[in-house]
Amino acid sequence: MQIIVAITGASGAPYAIRLIQALVEEKLEVHVTISAAGARLLKHEMGIAVDLRNFSVKSLLGKTTTRVVYYHHDYISAPIASGTFPIDAMVVVPCSMSTLAGIAAGLGNNLILRAADVTLKERRPLILVPRETPLGLIAIENMASVTRAGACVLPAMPALYNRPKTVQEMVDFVVGKILDQLHIRHELFRRWGE
Ligand SMILES: Cc1cc2nc3c(=O)[nH]c(=O)nc-3n(C[C@H](O)[C@H](O)[C@H](O)COP(=O)(O)O)c2cc1C
Repeated sequence: MQIIVAITGASGAPYAIRLIQALVEEKLEVHVTISAAGARLLKHEMGIAVDLRNFSVKSLLGKTTTRVVYYHHDYISAPIASGTFPIDAMVVVPCSMSTLAGIAAGLGNNLILRAADVTLKERRPLILVPRETPLGLIAIENMASVTRAGACVLPAMPALYNRPKTVQEMVDFVVGKILDQLHIRHELFRRWGE
């Protein structure tokens, strides 16, 4: 299975890192691209400094792995910009309102927007993990548009009924919900009734 993970500039960088770790642990191939604001949030929220032009997987995950393939967000002729590349699904996590708007409008003018557009046109699963509050009508309408186009809007909204004790548990809950959408088995949270 090959999954695209795009990191954009909404609050929630820990969700992206945890998701990539979980996919790598599952021995999947992860195609990563990061917006400029996404890199800023990685630094601000997690102290992770990535050089988008001279990228190393170690700077992102703290270790090297051949399972992560990285593309600069300007690299519009990257393999994942084409529907011929056999991607199984794409996750934008966290998804900024700006990137959400670009996907809803079908802009395709950076690799993240182009890959998302391709994912939709090829009728492959596209999972968007927005974080903003309160939501304005433009964002709500954009969420409705992408949902009509086939995307799954999965807001970064950790549940509290499982009484999380740490931020990591809250992060794992959201990442577990993403993995559920990808039909990947996991034990990141206990299911209701378990
Ligand atoms: C510290 C910080 C936190 C932000 N949090 C959010 C957020 O939670 N949601 C959001 O939509 N935008 C947020 N933004 C704004 C986006 O980063 C900004 O709109 C950016 O242009 C998005 O670009 P991108 O979609 O290319 O990543 C935040 C910006 C900063 C600096």
